[in-house]
Amino acid sequence: MGGRDATMVLLDENGIRCDGRKVDEPRRIMIKAGGLKNADGSAYIEFGDNKILVGVFGPRDVHPKHMSNTDTGILRVRYHMEPFSVGERKNPAPSRREIEISKVIKEALEPAVMLDKFPRTAVDVFIEVLQADGGTRCAALSAASVALADAGIPMRDMVAAIAAGKVADTIVLDVNNEEDQAGQADMPIGYMPNLEKITLLQLDGVLTPEEYKKCVQVGVDGCKIVYDIQKKALQDKYFGNGGD
Ligand code: CDP
Repeated sequence: MGGRDATMVLLDENGIRCDGRKVDEPRRIMIKAGGLKNADGSAYIEFGDNKILVGVFGPRDVHPKHMSNTDTGILRVRYHMEPFSVGERKNPAPSRREIEISKVIKEALEPAVMLDKFPRTAVDVFIEVLQADGGTRCAALSAASVALADAGIPMRDMVAAIAAGKVADTIVLDVNNEEDQAGQADMPIGYMPNLEKITLLQLDGVLTPEEYKKCVQVGVDGCKIVYDIQKKALQDKYFGNGGD
C-alpha cells in the first residue's frame, strides 16, 4: 500500500490534520439513494476521495436450492475493488482482503435486516469500489444500508459506519489513507443509531483502555453524523426532487 511522506505533519500545533480537518471532523460525505435502474435498490457514496456504488437484488430465489434456509432469508455481500480504484493496479480476481471485507460487511448488516420475513430467499448486495482512499469498508457499509432501504427491505435500523483512530497521540474521527499508513490506530465502527448497538468494531493498532473508550465514543458520534446524511439521501429520493 501507499508509502508515507516522511516530512508530512499529521497534526499541527493548532490541532489541524494533514488534510486540513479538525480532530472531530469527518471528510466530505455525499450519499445518493437509487440510480441503478436494473437493481431493486442502490446507492452511491462519496466519502472523501472514496467513490463506491452499491446495488441490491432481492429478496429472490436461491440457486442452488440447498443453500437456502427454510426459516429465514440469507444475506450475501460481495465487496469488490475495481483494478483502477487504487494507485497501483489491483488484480481483478477476489483477494483475501476483499473476501474478508465482504464477510465483515455482511455480519455488520445482518442485525439490521429482517431476514426472517423472507424465508428461503436471498438478498444480494454488490459493492463496487470505483476509487479507494482509506475507509472503504465503512463507506461501503453506510452505502449498503441506504441501498437496502432503497430496495424496500424491512430493517430494524440503518447501519452507519465511520472509523475513529489515533494519530499523533490524539484520538481523531475518520482516519484517512495517509493517517492510516502513518497513524497509530484505526478503528472502523458500524452502529445502529436508534437501537444504540454496535454491529462492527475492528481495531488495527495499539490503544490504552482509556483511549479505546474514547475511540469508541468518537466513532459512535461520527456514525450519528453519517446517519443524518443517510436519512437525507432517502428523504431526497422519496420526498424531494432528487429521485429517479
Ligand atoms: O479501505 P479500508 O480502510 O476499509 O481497508 P484497508 O484494508 O485498511 O485499506 C486501506 C486503504 O488502502 C484502502 O482504502 C485503499 O485506499 C488502500 N488499498 C490499496 O491502495 N491497494 C489495495 N490493494 C488495497 C487497499
